[in-house]
Amino acid sequence: MKKLLPLVSLLLIQPAHANPLEVLHWWTAPGELEAQAILKEALAQQNVDWKNFAIVGAGGNSALRVLQMRALSGNPPDAAQIKGPDIAEWAKMGLLKNIESFVPVKFLDKHLPDIVKKTVRYNNHYMALPLNIHRVNWLWLNKAIFDELQLVPPKTWKQFFIVADKIKQAGYLPLAHGGTAWQDSLLFESVALSLLGADKYRQAFVEFDKTILTSAEMIAVFKKFKQLNLYISKEMQGKDWTFSSQMISDKKAAMLFMGDWVKGMWHASGKVAMQDYLCVDVPESAGLFSYNIDSFVFFNKNSNDLENSNSQTFAHTLLSREFQNNFNIEKGSIPVRLNMDMQAFDSCSQKSYYDFNHAQLVPSFSQNMASSSYLQNEMNKIISYYFNNEEVSAEQTVKRLSLAIRALNK
Ligand code: BGC
Repeated sequence: MKKLLPLVSLLLIQPAHANPLEVLHWWTAPGELEAQAILKEALAQQNVDWKNFAIVGAGGNSALRVLQMRALSGNPPDAAQIKGPDIAEWAKMGLLKNIESFVPVKFLDKHLPDIVKKTVRYNNHYMALPLNIHRVNWLWLNKAIFDELQLVPPKTWKQFFIVADKIKQAGYLPLAHGGTAWQDSLLFESVALSLLGADKYRQAFVEFDKTILTSAEMIAVFKKFKQLNLYISKEMQGKDWTFSSQMISDKKAAMLFMGDWVKGMWHASGKVAMQDYLCVDVPESAGLFSYNIDSFVFFNKNSNDLENSNSQTFAHTLLSREFQNNFNIEKGSIPVRLNMDMQAFDSCSQKSYYDFNHAQLVPSFSQNMASSSYLQNEMNKIISYYFNNEEVSAEQTVKRLSLAIRALNK
C-alpha cells in the first residue's frame, strides 16, 4: 500500500483536466518567472491550471492597457495584477468580485498587516488578494567594486556624491539607471522621501498638498535628483530595469536605486546577497520604508461554481505560510502574512521585514501605491522630462506637477 502512495499523489498533482485560471500580470523577468513557477506548481497540486497572460514592459503600464481593452470588450481574464488605488478604480466600476465571497474575512483580518488591509480594501470590503511586500527605497551596491576601491557604503547624500566621484575616476559607471519614465520617477521618489521625510512626503504625494508640492523644499528635491543625471549612462535611455540590474551583476556599474524585485533577478542567476551585492537604505532614509504591495483582483464574470472554486483555491494557496515563504524568496519581496519565520530569507529580506515592522511606512508613488496609474503616468512624464532635458527648470517643473495633479486628481 505504501508503495502505491507516491504514484497516487503524482496522479493528484498532475491531473488530466486541470481547471484553467487566466491571470494577467507583468512578471516576465528572471526572478519574477521563478516566483511564478512556484505559484503555478502550487496551483497545479490543487488541480488549477495557471493560464499565463503576461504582458512585458513599461513597469506594468502595457499590461494595464491590455486589461482595460479586455474589460471594455466584456472579456476580462479571471484575475489580474492590480495594486494600490487602482483597486478602488476598478471596484467602483462594479467589475470586481468581493474576495470575501471566497476567503473568510476573519482569516484576512487576523493574518494581514494593517497597512496591507487598508491597501486592498474598498468601501470596507476586501477587493484584492495581497501577495507580497516590496521595499522601494533601497540602494544596491556591487560589492566587488566597493571592495576594490575600498569604499564605504554612503549613508548621506554628501557621502554618496563623494563615493560616486571616486567610482567615476576609477573608470566605472557610478549609477546603473534604466531611462524610462517610471524608473526616473522611482529615482525621484527615493530622493524626495529622504529629503522630505515621511510626513511631508505624504502631504505631497498622497494628499497632494499644493503648498508642499510647490515649496522651496520640493524645488531642492528636484535639483538634487537632477544631480544624479551626471552619474548615469545615456546609452541606457529607454532600457528596462532588467538591463540596469544586469549592469550591477556584470560589474559594469557600482550602484542602483531600485525596488527589491531586482534581488529576485540576481537570486535567479545564483548571485548571493552580501557576497555579490550589498543592500543599504537610500542615503538619509534609514527608518523610512516606501512599500509596494503586489495584489490580484478577480473579475465578476458570470461565475459558475468551477470559477469560484478556482478563485478560492488560488486565494488559499497564496496566503499559505509555505507558499509565502517559497514565493517571496524567489521574488525578492517579504511575506504579506504576519508572524512569518524569516530564517530561510537572505539578510536584505530580513532587514526589510524588520524595517516593515519598525520603520515609518509610506506608499511608493512611483509604484502606483499612492494614486491611480492614470495620474501617476502623467506625473512620471513630468518628472522624467525634467530629468532628461535642460530647457526646463526645477521651479517650472514643480508648477507643472502641481497643475497636472489638480487637473487629474478628481
Ligand atoms: C511590481 C513587481 C515587479 C516590478 C518589475 C512592480 O511594479 O510590483 O512585482 O516585479 O514591477 O516588473
